[in-house]
Amino acid sequence: MLDATAKSVLEDCEVVAIATQGPDGPHLVATWGDYVRRLGIGDCLLIPVGTLRTTEENLRRDPRVVLLAGSLRVPGRAGPGQGVRLTGPGRIVTAGADAERVRQAFPWARGALAVQVTQVETLL
Ligand SMILES: Cc1cc2nc3c(=O)[nH]c(=O)nc-3n(C[C@H](O)[C@H](O)[C@H](O)COP(=O)(O)O)c2cc1C
Repeated sequence: MLDATAKSVLEDCEVVAIATQGPDGPHLVATWGDYVRRLGIGDCLLIPVGTLRTTEENLRRDPRVVLLAGSLRVPGRAGPGQGVRLTGPGRIVTAGADAERVRQAFPWARGALAVQVTQVETLL
C-alpha cells in the first residue's frame, strides 16, 4: 500500500499529524517522524501513545484516521517538497504484540496507536 514516495516522506519527515473525528469536528494531534521510523515503516504504522485520550475516545466512535507528513527534501512534482496523506482505520491497543513493541522502544508509552493505511495520496 505505501508507495516509494510515501516511504521517502516518512523516512525524512520531522512530524506526522494525526487527525480523528470528534463529536464536534476534527481533532488533531501529532507524533515525531523519528518515533514512527523507530517502530518501522510499513502498511500498519505504529505510534507510541502517551496520552491521546481524546484521540482514543474518538476512535471508539469512529475508527477513521488521517495522517499527514511532509518533507522539503523529498522532491515534489513542481519542485522541492513532498507531502502525503495516509488514511485508514486506527485503534489504540494497550496489550498484545504491538503494545509490547512500542513499550520496549518507548518505556513511557501506555500503548500503541496502530493505523492500517488503506489510502495514500501525494499532495505536492
Ligand atoms: C510534534 C509532536 C509530537 C508528539 N508526539 C506524541 C507521541 O508520539 N505520543 C503521544 O502520546 N503524544 C505526542 N504528542 C502530544 C500529543 O499530540 C498531545 O499531548 C495531544 O493533545 C494529547 O492527545 P489528545 O488530545 O488526543 O488527548 C506530540 C505532540 C507534538 C506537537
